[in-house]
Amino acid sequence: MSSVDTIFDAASVIPVLTVERVADAVPLAEALYSGGLRVIEMTLRTADALAVMKEMKSAFRDLLVGMGTIRSPAQIDASIAAGADFLVSPGLTPELGAAMIGCGCAALPGVATAGEAMRAFDQGFRGLKFFPAEAAGGIDYLKSLSGPLPDLRFCPTGGISKDRAADYLALPNVGCVGGSWIAPPSLINAGDWRAISYNSQLAAELKALSEETRC
Ligand code: 3PG
Repeated sequence: MSSVDTIFDAASVIPVLTVERVADAVPLAEALYSGGLRVIEMTLRTADALAVMKEMKSAFRDLLVGMGTIRSPAQIDASIAAGADFLVSPGLTPELGAAMIGCGCAALPGVATAGEAMRAFDQGFRGLKFFPAEAAGGIDYLKSLSGPLPDLRFCPTGGISKDRAADYLALPNVGCVGGSWIAPPSLINAGDWRAISYNSQLAAELKALSEETRC
């Protein structure tokens, strides 16, 4: 299993994936991998999400696959059994936080405010999803957190377009960024692996760019 630092080190933009068909698992992972991405997030929003994750993990062993949209301890267990390398949630409850810490798997629980981030820190988390990033204050909010909460790093997700991703990645307290634009359901359902591979390449290139421009 990975640590949150491993995820931040390996990721640039994490594609957030909603996949309906198990048959799409391998060609989708191939398109993301060939574009240069090594960290992806499946979401637990479709009936076959766990099966899709299993297929991806058996085809691409060095791909770090997280399970997102986790809302309960039972979903944590099911995701780890399916091969999840890390867990992501839209928000954080005391019960969910305890189960995430207890399972030993890297986790990025969602927070949207300074108070939620402080409670997550007290529970033991050092990496958090900032969600929904654009609606919750975006770049200005994250910049404001870096002074009082310097020991937390974030993966902002929610409403972040391709054009905004580089600006987020340049912030010192951002480890990576999440977004569905790399492989939206429309491209997955159309089987447009070429477009997904191209978007993955753009996303992978943002990492090098952010390392040059980090402020
Ligand atoms: C989600 O939960 O769907 C993610 O935050 C992705 O958000 P996006 O579609 O706005 O990139």
